[in-house]
Amino acid sequence: MIQTADLKKSIDVYAIRKQFPVLSREVKGKPLVYFDNAATSQKPQAVVDELVNYYSNYNANIHRGIHTLAEEATLAYENTRDAVQQFIKAETREQIIFTRGTTEGINLVAYTWGRQNIRAGDEIIISTMEHHSNIVPWQILCEEKGAELKIIPINDNGELLIDKYEKLLNTKTKLVSIVHASNALGTVNPVKQIIDAAHKAGAVVLVDGAQSTVHLDIDVHEMDCDFFVFSSHKLYGPTGVGVLYGKKDLLESMPPFQGGGEMIKEVTFEKTTYNDLPYKYEAGTPNIADTIAFKTALDFIHQIGKEKIRRHEEELLIYSTAQLEQIPGLRIIGTAKEKVSVVSFIIEGLHPQDIGILLDNRGIAVRTGHHCAQPCMQCFGIPGTVRASFAVYNTKEEIDELIIGLQKAIKMLS
Ligand SMILES: Cc1ncc(COP(=O)(O)O)c(C=O)c1O
Repeated sequence: MIQTADLKKSIDVYAIRKQFPVLSREVKGKPLVYFDNAATSQKPQAVVDELVNYYSNYNANIHRGIHTLAEEATLAYENTRDAVQQFIKAETREQIIFTRGTTEGINLVAYTWGRQNIRAGDEIIISTMEHHSNIVPWQILCEEKGAELKIIPINDNGELLIDKYEKLLNTKTKLVSIVHASNALGTVNPVKQIIDAAHKAGAVVLVDGAQSTVHLDIDVHEMDCDFFVFSSHKLYGPTGVGVLYGKKDLLESMPPFQGGGEMIKEVTFEKTTYNDLPYKYEAGTPNIADTIAFKTALDFIHQIGKEKIRRHEEELLIYSTAQLEQIPGLRIIGTAKEKVSVVSFIIEGLHPQDIGILLDNRGIAVRTGHHCAQPCMQCFGIPGTVRASFAVYNTKEEIDELIIGLQKAIKMLS
């Protein structure tokens, strides 16, 4: 809860909003209310400017050139690696691998570490609340290797049953791949406890940080995870860039993901030797512009301060939950004690998609459906929810608009 004394420390949300050009547009003749931040956040002008700056002033391929533009582009690209290292408190910069996003990071681990280490009869543990991108790569791997996928159940609040998890762990468990914060429910999982228990059982742990990295302080060293993955586009940065962090010994012992330029030391027709970390996993020309602009997004977060952002979002979560609970027939799906600023709900007798369409007519962008978490929805016995997810630039006035929009939608559809 925000205390009065802390209000002095709170953010100037209206000044922050001015940095996001899209927030001043109208949708269907109404001011945009953007509550689809868990899908992707909006981008501040500085991020857009950096993309234009790169293409206007120093567009060049990186690492290979000795000319000025190539040096400038390489420096800017590698500066983002340093910024990411600090952002998640990784031990060294070599452990930061740039990917296309969370999905590619998980697939990279499944195709490299997974194919090297998983054998018939082994077990991989995931949870009921995983995003499809943390289910399907492991299903493919299990099918190929004859391994088995084990699922941690959840309770009615959408919290993991940790005692059941601990019972699933055994000598056959080789990997635990777990979401840090659920995109469908908002639940924040006790990853440190999960990791410690997995390590005791001799298993490696991947943490899906797609939803947590923008809201929570991430310290991969303290967390002691073996792999951590996330996407820039949920952190006010561009699409098409993500990060895989890994423990150095694992990254060094894994085979490469893709073959091609940049990931090699020397190529002959007889034998190829691979590059050092992190380049061993970055074959081909990477997404240079978006990676460079990702640092600008991280700078934006630093300038405000993660603690202040978190407090603001927590205030929005508490306020929206209280307001939504007043609506007759509305049920919040995901009522865990620890949550990020995601509220998923259903309204008795109404289809989430119909609600979403009517809200869009009032300029309010929410997400409806299964949120790429179909098994989680099945567990609650529902096809999907309406999801409002909040970012640093959202306001209580916007939540009031959502409530009015929902009341009107209920009247219209009932
Ligand atoms: C929890 C979670 N994991 C993974 C992903 C996949 O992220 P991306 O589409 O950026 O690869 C998402 C995206 O919504 C997510 O919310």
